[in-house]
Amino acid sequence: MNSFYILFLFLFFFFSSQTASIKETTFERDFILPRPPVYNGIQTKSKNTIYSSFVYHEHLQEHGQFLKPREVCQYDDRINYRVVRADGINFSHVYMEDTYKMDSELEFYYIKPTNQNNSVAMKIVGQSNLEEEATISVYSYLSISTEDKSAICSINFEDKQPFISSYSSDYNGIINLKTHFQSKEPLVTSYYAVRNDEPYLATDIITSQFNHYGGGIFQLPNKTDYSKGVPNFAIIHKVFQTPFEWIVYFDSEDDPIPSSFVFDEQFIQQQLAFDSKFDSIFGSQIINATHNQFGKQVLSHLLGGLSYFYGTRYIYDPYENKTFEFYDNELYSCIPNKFYFPRPFFWDEGFHDKIVWRWEPKLFENIMTSWFNLQNETTGWIAREMIIGSEAQSRAPEWAWAGITNQMNPPIFFFTLFEYYQQDPQSRITFLKSIYPKLQKTYDFYWNNCLSTVTPYTFVWLGRVGDGTLDSGLDDYPRAPEPTKQEVDIDIQSWMVKLSYVMQYFAQEVGDTKNQSLYHLEYTETLKKMREIFWNSKQHVYQDTRYQNGTLDEKIEHVGIISVFPVCLGIEPIDNGNNQRVKEMIQVMNNTSILFDEQAGLRSLSSKDSAFMLSGNYWRGNIWINMNYMCSQGLKFYEQYYPEAKTLRNRIEETVINNVIKEYFKTHGSLWETYMPFTGLGYNNNPFNGWTTLVLLMMAQLY
Ligand SMILES: *[C@@H]1O[C@H](CO)[C@@H](O)[C@H](O)[C@H]1NC(C)=O
Ligand SMILES: *[C@@H]1O[C@H](CO)[C@@H](O)[C@H](O)[C@H]1NC(C)=O
Ligand SMILES: *[C@@H]1O[C@H](CO)[C@@H](O)[C@H](O)[C@H]1NC(C)=O
Ligand SMILES: *[C@@H]1O[C@H](CO)[C@@H](O)[C@H](O)[C@H]1NC(C)=O
Ligand SMILES: *[C@@H]1O[C@H](CO)[C@@H](O)[C@H](O)[C@H]1NC(C)=O
Ligand SMILES: *[C@@H]1O[C@H](CO)[C@@H](O)[C@H](O)[C@H]1NC(C)=O
Ligand SMILES: *[C@@H]1O[C@H](CO)[C@@H](O)[C@H](O)[C@H]1NC(C)=O
Ligand SMILES: *[C@@H]1O[C@H](CO)[C@@H](O)[C@H](O)[C@H]1NC(C)=O
Ligand SMILES: *[C@@H]1O[C@H](CO)[C@@H](O)[C@H](O)[C@H]1NC(C)=O
Ligand SMILES: *[C@@H]1O[C@H](CO)[C@@H](O)[C@H](O)[C@H]1NC(C)=O
Repeated sequence: MNSFYILFLFLFFFFSSQTASIKETTFERDFILPRPPVYNGIQTKSKNTIYSSFVYHEHLQEHGQFLKPREVCQYDDRINYRVVRADGINFSHVYMEDTYKMDSELEFYYIKPTNQNNSVAMKIVGQSNLEEEATISVYSYLSISTEDKSAICSINFEDKQPFISSYSSDYNGIINLKTHFQSKEPLVTSYYAVRNDEPYLATDIITSQFNHYGGGIFQLPNKTDYSKGVPNFAIIHKVFQTPFEWIVYFDSEDDPIPSSFVFDEQFIQQQLAFDSKFDSIFGSQIINATHNQFGKQVLSHLLGGLSYFYGTRYIYDPYENKTFEFYDNELYSCIPNKFYFPRPFFWDEGFHDKIVWRWEPKLFENIMTSWFNLQNETTGWIAREMIIGSEAQSRAPEWAWAGITNQMNPPIFFFTLFEYYQQDPQSRITFLKSIYPKLQKTYDFYWNNCLSTVTPYTFVWLGRVGDGTLDSGLDDYPRAPEPTKQEVDIDIQSWMVKLSYVMQYFAQEVGDTKNQSLYHLEYTETLKKMREIFWNSKQHVYQDTRYQNGTLDEKIEHVGIISVFPVCLGIEPIDNGNNQRVKEMIQVMNNTSILFDEQAGLRSLSSKDSAFMLSGNYWRGNIWINMNYMCSQGLKFYEQYYPEAKTLRNRIEETVINNVIKEYFKTHGSLWETYMPFTGLGYNNNPFNGWTTLVLLMMAQLY
């Protein structure tokens, strides 16, 4: 046994004990969540995860052919996918238009019956837009994680109808998945139960059975298959002619869904409750009915990605050139995009949570706690991207699995917590106190890892490789031609000014007076250095700067969104309306030949910049909604003393909102990761249901 193994054992226990502390802070209800990489489906929030989904494919009888089952979100499925309503906890409604070959529309509804802890009722509705009826194969399955050693899934019968009957440790007993209603007799019903080491996926099981036929129609083999071990996966198959409707109930034998439950009635109740909660939180400023409807969908898009992850994760230490494996991690978080990024990101989540805390405070606290529980207790490091467990890993390239221990993204989470706390200090102080020691550690991580060597109180991103500064969160934003430690970067400098400001405020609130004075000193010194070193008086903006031949004033002459961060973060002094720099930066932001795009909002890079729209073209001009939100928030901070800040904020809001809505309706209800300069066209990933949803807060005027 080597020391590596001992370290590993130690960490295993370390994580086990952390896991226990997470459980105490989670919701009482073991509620059901949407699953990140699949179109439809739910899972329990537990190590012994139970999965359930609807999967379908077209049934081309005459050709004896079957198409790929629709399960994992994939662009080449050519599906218009939309979360119509979801509150992240109690219900969801997803719409899919499948235009590839069959031109069908399918809708999926999930609802937790009120007063029940662990039951779910699910409904699929299908119809075809073609003249003749379409034939569709639909599957409903129930499976249990391989972590649950005593799990069994099997097929049972009631009135000759097959249903799934399972044993789950989490329920301490029998759970069932039963047909409750079908609008018409299916052409075929068949079933199968088998051992599946990827219980979150039905596609491989279904396609492996494509050679089974009965009466000219594909069928599952109608058996419980013990050949690979005790089955942990069971599936029911039905073939319907459109239009059809199929409702199944998932519940436990000791707490069954009562016969008084009426699906549509409860669904409408939940939706009404959602709508009125939306109106009371976000709706008062959203008068236009189209905008109001759009806002409800946008919120649902974000909450429809609220996910739970459990399992192994990897960490790469570049100094040791070693990858470490850790078991038993839990994370609860939203995700940006089901198709390309079905996993959580630290910097994105800080932005998502500006919406989440307004919607459901407790949800935000649980999310933030679960992120900070994955912090390295020694260094304070938190991975940029979390790829936890085999389902998440199956949707990411292997080289990306490991978090890199010298890379950390900007501290948006701290600022979101700051905003959250300030809304209601009295009731939120307990939460602040509970997380404060962890905040201190992560704060220290930035100081220990991002400090520049050229002069005290300045910062640089050190995780840079070629053109990519992934740790900055602005991947290909142009920096100095080649990375050196002689560089200091204005974005991290600005983050650190704001972060030390926020930390001294938190320290004061929790009564940590000694550290408060330390943090205060750090705040004033970093601000002073920012104002001394980074300002370019010819271009009227802040810029990255390089130390050359004993002087600090060689500017990296790019003008972009980070050049105005001191306004966007509200860290440039207000100075009773006399701060010339604020006025100058506002002019740069408002200038259409520099940052302001009349179609879409603030560009990430000036249209005059030498790197504008050049190779990669990610953070090189495209319009990002999180940045537009953040800058509007900053402008609001100056409005009382600088009337031009309000004019500009309103101009940004109007432009961003109109363009995002225009593109949304033009592209089947899609939000996009970015919008292109000059045309405003949606660009890069879609549907992008991450921080683009901040358009909601811009409409609601909530900053
Ligand atoms: C979910 O339903 C419960 C019980 O009806 C309710 O208390 C809670 O507020 C709902 N959650 C959300 C996010 O609306
Ligand atoms: C449901 O949860 C509540 C609150 O945790 C608990 O009091 C109740 O006993 C649970 N009901 C069942 C049937 O498990
Ligand atoms: C499979 O079972 C179903 C339901 O019991 C039955 O309708 C169907 O004919 C069976 N299929 C075969 C091939 O036996
Ligand atoms: C409401 O918003 C839509 C979409 O932005 C716009 O076309 C319409 O003119 C607005 N209606 C009113 C009354 O302002
Ligand atoms: C890191 O280790 C791998 C093998 O584990 C080796 O191939 C690679 O060259 C090493 N890289 C460095 C920079 O030492
Ligand atoms: C935390 O960081 C320390 C120091 O780099 C390292 O030895 C340890 O393995 C890390 N632990 C975890 C859980 O990441
Ligand atoms: C200040 O914070 C550090 C952690 O960063 C902690 O170890 C120390 O006890 C704190 N000082 C006081 C006086 O509370
Ligand atoms: C810095 O010094 C080097 C070598 O002495 C010289 O080539 C270079 O031009 C100087 N750069 C500046 C900005 O003065
Ligand atoms: C906008 O910027 C351009 C290029 O720097 C400059 O020539 C022009 O005067 C500016 N316009 C305004 C209105 O300030
Ligand atoms: C921004 O530019 C527009 C169009 O040139 C102008 O109408 C507006 O007054 C400017 N706003 C500010 C704050 O300077």
